[in-house]
Order: sequence, then C-alpha cells, then structure tokens
Amino acid sequence: MSDVSAGSTTEKKFSDMDSNGEEHNTDEIQEVDIQKVISENDLLKVQNETMKAKLLETSMMVNKYLSEMDQLKDQLDHLTTPPLFIASVMEVEDDMALLRQHGNNQEVMTRIPPEMEGTIGPGMRVSINAAFAIIAIISRAADVRAQMMELIDSPGIDYDMIGGLDDVLKEVIESVELPLTEPELFENIGIEPPSGVLMYGSPGTGKTLIAKAVASRAHATFIRMSGSDLVQKFIGEGARLVKDVFQLAREKSPSILFIDEIDAVGGMRTHDGTTGSAEVNRTMLQLLAEMDGFDPSGNVKIIAATNRIDLLDPALLRPGRFDRIIEIPIPDEKAREEILKIHTRKMNLEKDIDLAKIANMTDGLSGADLNVIVKEAGMFVLRRRGDMIKMQDFLEAFEKVVSEEEVNTPAGMFA
Ligand SMILES: Nc1ncnc2c1ncn2[C@@H]1O[C@H](COP(=O)(O)OP(=O)(O)OP(=O)(O)O)[C@@H](O)[C@H]1O
Ligand SMILES: [Mg+2]
Repeated sequence: MSDVSAGSTTEKKFSDMDSNGEEHNTDEIQEVDIQKVISENDLLKVQNETMKAKLLETSMMVNKYLSEMDQLKDQLDHLTTPPLFIASVMEVEDDMALLRQHGNNQEVMTRIPPEMEGTIGPGMRVSINAAFAIIAIISRAADVRAQMMELIDSPGIDYDMIGGLDDVLKEVIESVELPLTEPELFENIGIEPPSGVLMYGSPGTGKTLIAKAVASRAHATFIRMSGSDLVQKFIGEGARLVKDVFQLAREKSPSILFIDEIDAVGGMRTHDGTTGSAEVNRTMLQLLAEMDGFDPSGNVKIIAATNRIDLLDPALLRPGRFDRIIEIPIPDEKAREEILKIHTRKMNLEKDIDLAKIANMTDGLSGADLNVIVKEAGMFVLRRRGDMIKMQDFLEAFEKVVSEEEVNTPAGMFA
C-alpha cells in the first residue's frame, strides 16, 4: 500500500518539477545518483573484500608451493650429490695431509681446508669428496684407539705379587719375557722364539695379573685390548681396530699385546648370516691375518686370555698361532695360602692370624675371591676403628663373601 502511495507521490513530484523549474529536478537526480554511487561503492567494497580474501588465500597457496618446491629442491640436491668417501689421515705436514682412502687404499696428498687447520691429526678418519677435499672429521680414531686399548708403560706389577702359579710363570717367562729381553738366547740355539701364549682358566685366577707382570719385567709397553669391547662397543670397526692395535703394538715395541676375553672375537665362527656374527667373523679373520703376518723374532709378543677355551675357534688353537696354550688353574690350598700372604703383606696382622687355616677353608675360591676376603676383613677393622686385623675379621669376611657368592652362583660352587 505505502509503495503505491509513495509511487504516486513521486510521480506527482516529478510532474511538479517538470512544471516548476530545473533546480528541483537536478537535486532529485543528484540524490538518486548519489544513492546509486553509494550502493555501487558498497558493492565494490564487498567485492574488494572478497578479492582481498582471495588474494590472501592465493598468497598462502603460493607460500605453500614455494616451500614444497624448496623441499623438492633439497631432495633433488640430496639425491644428486655425489657420495663422500672415507679416508684415514696418515700424516700431516703444515697445511697438507697424506690421506689413505678406505676400500682402495689409494694414497693422496691434499690441502687441509683453512678452517680445519690444526684440528686434523694422524689417525683420524675424515670424509672426502671425489676431489679428495676434506669435508668433515668423522672420528678422532686416536680417541677410539685410546678408548679401546689400555696403553700402559710397564705397569708396576711384579712376579712376587702372584701366588701359587710358579709353573705357569716359568712358561710365560720363557715364551714372552725372554724373547723380549734376551733374544740372543734363541738366536744362539737357532730356534724361533714363540710369538705368543694363550692363557685359559676360570675368572679371577690371575691371567690379567700375569700379563701385566710380564710386561713390567720385560720393560715393554703393555697394550690391553678387550675382545668383548671390540665386538660390543665398536660395532663395525672391529676388524679395523684389530689392525690398528697390531700397528700400535709395532710402533710401541718392545710391547706386549694382551688380548683379553679373546673368546668374544675368537668364538667359533658361525654361519647363520646374522650381521652380528658376520661382524665377529670379520674381526676374527683380521685377527688371524695379523697373527699369521707376525714376525716372531720381532719385539711384539701376544698374550691372550679367555675363560672359555671350549668356545674358541679351532683356527686360533692351530699350531703356529699361539705357540703355548697354558691353563691357569684354580688355586689349591698351598697356592691359596701364598695368595693370602701376598695380599696381607702390607697389613697390620694380629699374631693369632692363621692364614693356613683360611686357605684350608676357602676351597674352590679364586685369587680374586681371596683378595676380596682380605679387603673385606680390612673393612671390618676400619668400622670398629681398630688398627690390627684379627682372625675374627677374616672369619667374618669369609662368611660375608661366601654368602654373597652363594647368592650369585646358585649352582653352589662351594657345595
Ligand atoms: N694367583 C694370584 N695371586 C695373587 N693375586 C691374585 C691371583 N689371582 C688373582 N688374584 C687377584 O685377583 C685379581 C683379579 O685377577 P685377574 O684380573 O688377573 O683375573 P683374571 O684371571 O684375569 O680373571 P678374568 O678371567 O675374570 O679376567 C687380581 O688383581 C689379584 O688381586
Ligand atoms: Mg682378566
């Protein structure tokens, strides 16, 4: 209804304007135009907002594609960069390094990049590109060596610290110490000195002790390499480290290379194809190769130890590899008394102490067990702030150690 009336009013106005003059007419038109412009403006504003939103959306997409493109570029770079090679640094002189590439053993001289000068040293492993430029240091092999090989210059242990193993010691002295200290003895007779001995026996019977004492007497560098470390800690590097350790032994000669827990590397070669055993096999083959290439008249002797000779690869036991295979027995009563004497040598003992009696009680215990009993007895004295060790301290220490051992060895080795 109002529309109709409005319409008629408007018509009337127009007719008024027509007849009454131009001014009214123009006003009206302008108002309409303004309305039109305003609404057009509103429309444009809306359109503008929509476009802005679209622009935003598009720029977001562009960003997304750009970052995807970057990723793909990276991937492409990654896929197309030539691989780096591994090399060992043999020597360093000023800003030049002599490298030996792994695999093909090619040797090259290359300039050390300025930012690496002073940080590159012999024994390190580095990555190199096809132009033999050093790209990065992979491992400070010298550190790895130090970790794996305990290098002791003549450890301060002597034969008189070893009890009850006189026969064994005689044999070890003949085959390891004499060739190092008096090689002419062998030359005169015209026989080749033994290149090494293998000691086997239960844990704690003195194998490591013997090796150290011999090294000390022979004034030789003592290098200890642990077989289990070799295959457990340095996975994939076993064979290389075996090579390194023999190299080090030659460098530091006269030296004794002590391969402890050789069963870890020298266990029966398995052929089940697992990587673990393949790794052990490679390490073992390297070990055999090093031993075969060994010059028995040289200044390096090998002492190996194991408490599982039954696990050893027969190849290691073949004549020519270890010239002597020596059993280190569990101490008998007399030996136990000697060991107790040695370990109590520096202690303040009460007169009532009867070491023979303790030796008699400790059947089946090793030298290491006896050492623990002696130390434990010392602790009892300390706890009561005493200054002399009494027989009672030993008896209590014995009880304590044996009861602890029984918990740890359910098979009941003391039965
Ligand atoms: N015959 C011995 N005389 C004196 N002390 C000994 C003797 N045997 C062992 N011990 C003591 O036991 C400790 C451990 O001995 P050692 O490390 O030589 O044993 P091991 O035979 O090498 O054992 P494992 O097979 O476990 O390596 C020695 O440091 C020493 O204190
Ligand atoms: Mg040992």
